[in-house]
Amino acid sequence: MKFLRDAKVYNKRVLARVDFNVPLNEKGEIIDDFRIRSTLPTIKWLLKNGAKVILMSHLGSPKGERLENLKIDAVQQRLTEYLDLSVVKAPDCVGKEIEDWTREMGSGEILLLENLRFHKEEEENDLKFAKKLAGLGDIYVNDAFGTSHRAHASIVGVPKFLPSFAGLLLEKEIKALNKLLKNSQRPLVAVIGGAKVSTKLKLFKELLNFADHLLLGGVLANTILKAQGLTVGKSVVEENMVAEAKKLILTGTNFHLPVDVVVSDDISGKGKIKVKGPASVEDEELILDIGPDTLSLFGEIIKKAKVVFWNGPMGFYEQEEFAQGTINLAKIITQSGAYSIIGGGDVLSILDKLGLAEKINHISTGGGAMLAYIAGEKLPGIEALK
Ligand code: 3PG
Repeated sequence: MKFLRDAKVYNKRVLARVDFNVPLNEKGEIIDDFRIRSTLPTIKWLLKNGAKVILMSHLGSPKGERLENLKIDAVQQRLTEYLDLSVVKAPDCVGKEIEDWTREMGSGEILLLENLRFHKEEEENDLKFAKKLAGLGDIYVNDAFGTSHRAHASIVGVPKFLPSFAGLLLEKEIKALNKLLKNSQRPLVAVIGGAKVSTKLKLFKELLNFADHLLLGGVLANTILKAQGLTVGKSVVEENMVAEAKKLILTGTNFHLPVDVVVSDDISGKGKIKVKGPASVEDEELILDIGPDTLSLFGEIIKKAKVVFWNGPMGFYEQEEFAQGTINLAKIITQSGAYSIIGGGDVLSILDKLGLAEKINHISTGGGAMLAYIAGEKLPGIEALK
């Protein structure tokens, strides 16, 4: 694999795949820009070395549709503020007009392409689409660690056509996670919550082998509880993964689901809120957080840990009433003295809000990508650079 520092970029069009998939609120404002900040060293390095910088990213899951609320404008604005120079945004990510723009760029200029996932060919890893993207650069840089577990056109297709390099962030992430993998200190505890159940579930076998304890919450736990035959009421569940979860043998002593949950019939926090065992959830209720007994069980395990890695919130943390599980878990982990690694935008935004982010040993820009790497999977984006 070649690294950016070895690339000759002066006056070259450098097409950089970055992960600007940042969490947005309902007004389309960025909730947490850690992924943008983490990419600045690469962008600044490229500018300093006289490259013409063309940035491409996905944002959310528009699934091939041009969705107004998933245009990359908020990112453009934030980048302009951080770099203190004008970042031009293209109306699309492929096409003759955009290619002409890239050829007219001067050294030290930046062009941000529109959301890659407005084209379904991106996720389909369409080679013709990858070739069109590759036409926008002379050199390709992957700095999108957070998306490197996806075999998408901008991640694995483009490097087939251009000299390719790992960006500074990708390099940093690989080094930090390799350090964790070499860290023989035990017990190692993995805490996994949030959604994207399909990405996480397929890593379970490896994670159960790798970690001494696996603690689960969020939509992931809901889906497994349902697979185990419990009535989870109206809880958010990844329905098409229930059958998959049924196939997993999840009975080991190192595997921990919530023993109590916070439920309500209203996600706005205005309804009746109860704490109960996961077996007593009623038809009209939703599981919205882990309960206090789960928190103390998880806490006891974490306090004995030497290494903790964490991805995904324990509940519907966006609503204050259901954020306590995630908030208290953040406090327990940062006070535990264990070597800590966290990944994923949601957890990071909570730690940032609590002022606890600097107490974490390594904050990864990857959620699913971090889990896949730790589980020993070969990430397509990294393999494509080799
Ligand atoms: C992430 O948020 O984990 C990455 O940006 C990848 O996004 P995805 O899970 O929608 O592919």
